[in-house]
Amino acid sequence: MTELITIKDLKVHYPIRSGFFNRVTDFVYAVDGVDFVIEKGKTYGLVGESGSGKSTTGKAIVGLEKVTSGGIIYEGQDVTKRSVRKKMNYNKDVQMIFQDSMSSLNPKKRVIDIIAEPLRNFDRLSDQEEKQRVKSLLDIVGMPEDALYKYPHEFSGGQRQRLGVARAVATNPKLIIADEPVSALDLSVQAQVLNFMKRIQQEFGLSFLFISHDLGVVKHMCDNIAIMYKGRFVEIGTREDIYQDPRHIYTKRLLSAIPQIDVKNREAHKDNRRRVELDYVTHQKDYYDETGRVYDLRTITASHQVALKNGGAE
Ligand SMILES: Nc1ncnc2c1ncn2[C@@H]1O[C@H](COP(=O)(O)OP(=O)(O)O)[C@@H](O)[C@H]1O
Ligand SMILES: [Mg+2]
Repeated sequence: MTELITIKDLKVHYPIRSGFFNRVTDFVYAVDGVDFVIEKGKTYGLVGESGSGKSTTGKAIVGLEKVTSGGIIYEGQDVTKRSVRKKMNYNKDVQMIFQDSMSSLNPKKRVIDIIAEPLRNFDRLSDQEEKQRVKSLLDIVGMPEDALYKYPHEFSGGQRQRLGVARAVATNPKLIIADEPVSALDLSVQAQVLNFMKRIQQEFGLSFLFISHDLGVVKHMCDNIAIMYKGRFVEIGTREDIYQDPRHIYTKRLLSAIPQIDVKNREAHKDNRRRVELDYVTHQKDYYDETGRVYDLRTITASHQVALKNGGAE
């Protein structure tokens, strides 16, 4: 295993202020102690329902959110400090794509300026070189050259996600954090965008941190997966561990929630979903401590860890 980036006991707590003096009275434990490794050229999936802390984790890694404690180790350096990130040109290597391309791509700028912006931060190119580079980036994501001088609103949602990817790969990064990159798209368009993301990954030897609320979407993308709940990991493993041998009740519930396209099995799927939901309602207290906190992870196999009380001994 060749690791690209190592996340150590990462915590991001947001202060809640209230009262006349606007004092900090409590914290939102958005990310509350997660450990994982993203390998070179591989895709790490981060999956959980809305509010579980996925985006905060992604933003902390790229440097958009202040880290409360813990480490993010890249090329032997802890990049939780802004000064360290700056010194090593960290954000040339680590880029982020967001779900909502309409708000993440500046609507007042033309495509050439949007895609060239990260380049301008790190490379000194002549106008001609820059135009050439943006053209080749458009080509990589399957967009025509005449997109150069258009504005984001002139494209469909799927095309805008392609522009977002072109922008993210502009600096030739090592890691792209893709936060729900296809969640706003129709199913058929989702498949297209996922396919070219995979192609780009192979071409550039990229790593992805792929964030989604839907285990169905990440299935064909990810080598390793972490299931996140209330700022903690309930289960981590390889794709096979998670889909073939899920151990935590929350993972099972997410699996049963994957939309079923196959008409034949729809009834059986519905029954299974009802059964898992009932199991979840009845037994969920066994899976969390008395404060509702997720237990620490325990090792099942070399690749598979689950947050069970007493390591799962029943
Ligand atoms: N800037 C913020 N200030 C306070 N709380 C926040 C902030 N951003 C996110 N949160 C809270 O942190 C938790 C995790 O949010 P988020 O990381 O966006 O989850 P996800 O991406 O999994 O939906 C949520 O409870 C959310 O309300
Ligand atoms: Mg999110």
